[in-house]
Amino acid sequence: MPALVLLGAQWGDEGKGKATDLLGGSVDYVVRYQGGNNAGHTVVVGDQKYALHLLPSGILSPGCTPVIGNGVVVDPSVLLSELSGLNERGVDTSKLLISGNAHIITPYNVTVDKVTERFLGKRKIGTTGRGIGPTYADKINRVGIRVQDLYDESILHQKVEAALDVKNQVLTKLYNRRAITADQVVEELLGYAEQIKPYVADTVLILNQALEDDKVVLFEGGQGTLLDIDHGTYPFVTSSNPTAGGACTGAGVGPTKISRVIGILKAYTTRVGAGPFPTELFDEDGEALRRIGGERGVTTGRDRRCGWFDAVIARYATRVNGLTDFFLTKLDVLTGWEQIPVCVAYEIDGKRVEELPYSQTDFHHAKPVYETLPGWSEDISKAKSFSDLPKNAQNYVKALEEMSGAPISAIGVGPGRDETIEINSFL
Ligand code: GDP
Ligand code: IMO
Ligand code: MG
Repeated sequence: MPALVLLGAQWGDEGKGKATDLLGGSVDYVVRYQGGNNAGHTVVVGDQKYALHLLPSGILSPGCTPVIGNGVVVDPSVLLSELSGLNERGVDTSKLLISGNAHIITPYNVTVDKVTERFLGKRKIGTTGRGIGPTYADKINRVGIRVQDLYDESILHQKVEAALDVKNQVLTKLYNRRAITADQVVEELLGYAEQIKPYVADTVLILNQALEDDKVVLFEGGQGTLLDIDHGTYPFVTSSNPTAGGACTGAGVGPTKISRVIGILKAYTTRVGAGPFPTELFDEDGEALRRIGGERGVTTGRDRRCGWFDAVIARYATRVNGLTDFFLTKLDVLTGWEQIPVCVAYEIDGKRVEELPYSQTDFHHAKPVYETLPGWSEDISKAKSFSDLPKNAQNYVKALEEMSGAPISAIGVGPGRDETIEINSFL
């Protein structure tokens, strides 16, 4: 019954795509359980680079069945263009399964995302503008459109009309936009229906049967722990649950089935969009991390905000996800710094605080308390085992492990599949 969850331990972009792809060759199913095409997962295979948004990173491993679970929100036009993009590059995508209960990102959800952000002005979240929040809002408000609705035109029409009733009032009266007609939306959605149909399946049944048959299932999170709607830096979060519990609800698998939860942890910290970030750097070190780490958003092309490693956040991720392991990524990016500061606690209103404060006000006031670790200058990108790393790099990893509360079982020393040091096997 080997079911693993692989998720982001910080604010996203930790290297989940690479880690999933690495395990993809040994697992039977890779399942996305939340989020949508707000994600941007980069996978480098040999000299080929792939940017995946909605599709699970396992799609690049021929033996693996990729699954889009019920907890995901699906933009059909993005889905089809991502599939055809991969097909053109010779990737076989025919095994893909999509839950009939996954919700559809409609064109009006994308419009609402954009106008809401515009109206928030300087209080905006900095969303990816992909319609994610409004689609989850419709789901919770029980006016969402599901994948299965594409196959009953009359139901689809009724549901789109019901959703637009209120939305058109808001769009026209509040946001000064043109009303959207149900006919126009239904026509567009029906245009995708037949192309998507071969992939639609009862994914809950299939995944539970697979687990009973001792198949290996990997649940791949989008975003990260601190972007979680419940456990993240609300309201500067995404509208779903990337944390481990989300894998259960977003795929229809019970918590007793999950055997391992792996947190992907960058050796420093990045964030895209607005919201608090205690270790953020505004100096040349931040600029250097961005440049050396190639920290530019895969989905929106925005520069990522960069800062030093934050152990308070890592400990928090261990706790709320019940992490069994960490996969530490991008250690190579830190090569060349003589000293590397690591945030071990916060100072909030003059007091030292060891754990992430639950109060938003406190977190906004948190100042990092740094310990400085000695750096290394040797190239580590060819390291194959822990002992290949220079002593100071080994000590940096050991210190992070000690502070973060779970064993570091793998270390990324470059973007490629092979540029990984495996310490404990994940399977
Ligand atoms: P994801 O959203 O968590 O999948 O991460 P992204 O793909 O958005 O960003 C991570 C970036 O770091 C990608 O460009 C990866 O190719 C790259 N990457 C992943 N692991 C490593 C690593 O260990 N070293 C280096 N230098 N780059 C890495
Ligand atoms: P991956 O899977 C980093 C951020 C956005 C914004 C907030 C809400 O590549 O790690 P949304 O469009 O989801 O409503 O935006 O969440 N965000 C991400 N940041 N990586 C991601 O995905 C993200 N997906 C959303 O920048 O701050
Ligand atoms: Mg990303």
